[in-house]
Amino acid sequence: MENFSVCKLVRKNCLAFEPYVAGKPIETLKRELGLKHIIKIASNENPLGPSKKAVAAIKNIVKKVYFYPDFNSTDLKNAIASKFKVNSKTVLVGAGSDELIEIIGKLFFTSSDEIVISKHAFVRYKMAVQLMASKSVIVPMKDGLTHDLTAMLKACNKNTKAVFIANPNNPTGTYVTSKEIESFLQKLPKNKYGMKPLVVIDEAYYEYASFKKDYPQTLKYLAKNPNLIVLRTFSKIYALAGARVGYGFTSEGVADYIERIRPPFNLNIFAQAGAIASLKDDSQVKRSLSHIRKEMKFVTDGLKKMKIPFIDSVANFVLFSVAPLSGTDIFKKLLREGVIVRAMAEYDLDGYIRVTIGTRAENQLFLNKLKKVLGK
Ligand SMILES: Cc1ncc(COP(=O)(O)O)c(C=O)c1O
Repeated sequence: MENFSVCKLVRKNCLAFEPYVAGKPIETLKRELGLKHIIKIASNENPLGPSKKAVAAIKNIVKKVYFYPDFNSTDLKNAIASKFKVNSKTVLVGAGSDELIEIIGKLFFTSSDEIVISKHAFVRYKMAVQLMASKSVIVPMKDGLTHDLTAMLKACNKNTKAVFIANPNNPTGTYVTSKEIESFLQKLPKNKYGMKPLVVIDEAYYEYASFKKDYPQTLKYLAKNPNLIVLRTFSKIYALAGARVGYGFTSEGVADYIERIRPPFNLNIFAQAGAIASLKDDSQVKRSLSHIRKEMKFVTDGLKKMKIPFIDSVANFVLFSVAPLSGTDIFKKLLREGVIVRAMAEYDLDGYIRVTIGTRAENQLFLNKLKKVLGK
């Protein structure tokens, strides 16, 4: 046997990486737990499913599968640009907004850079920072588990290359207002590069949150803030999570460099066709929004009845507390009852569980099973 040690070859900052632990497939769980019926309300997917137009477009494109996709996703970028009234040269696309987060890291972050992130923010920001051996500067949240933009501003110094703001945030479901964002963008101090750090505002749940009047419409800040990158996705309200389509908006200069390092063909033909068709179907979005607002009330009313504290959410999920019990224990008990939710230990929120708003039947079953496992 050759004397081979992979650990000596792996970059030091990657040695401590753990593989991403995704939930087990429903069929596997059914077999393991001996259950006939399992519901998954764990990944903030849209239970009403995608637009029929998107499904038809995906089916229709199957016959073209022997061709490579358009490497530039030209039609999709143009469709996004025309819907949001921006220049298509400022539109980004990625295999999920997840890929865009990683590309931003690969393009910009060096080992001497600091990246400011809120404590219970979406976990993929930290991972992009770790991948590039940069330093995450973690800022505690305010009461109510909301980003503390004042504290995040104070955490910025000469070494700050970027700031990540998930708005609304996953897993807390809380948001920062337009006033707060405007003041933040304006007050950001210059770094050692002689300019304001990049500000990545991740709006994966943008459509869900837009019913709040003070929720920021960030695209209007792009003209004056070339350091701003706004990320969105087709995974959530458009219900195309399996197709992997994320998108974003930024300045032409940033977009130009992201284009240079993005993998060619990163959006497959199904992703491009499904996303383009989704943008033409406002009724699917409207239906999903009204469903989630109604069902969010149903779920949170149920939590209230059981006297379970929860964080007000403007997204399609809600974070609730089972403390002093362990969130992981309750997660496991719910799993045995056929209900998959999300435990929050990886977010440093041990006593919490995040549940996605599902169909009425799923929500009812979840509340019944929660009541049972908590002995309420
Ligand atoms: C805040 C936030 N950003 C980004 C993503 C990634 O979404 P996707 O890669 O499916 O576009 C998620 C997914 O849960 C999220 O919650």
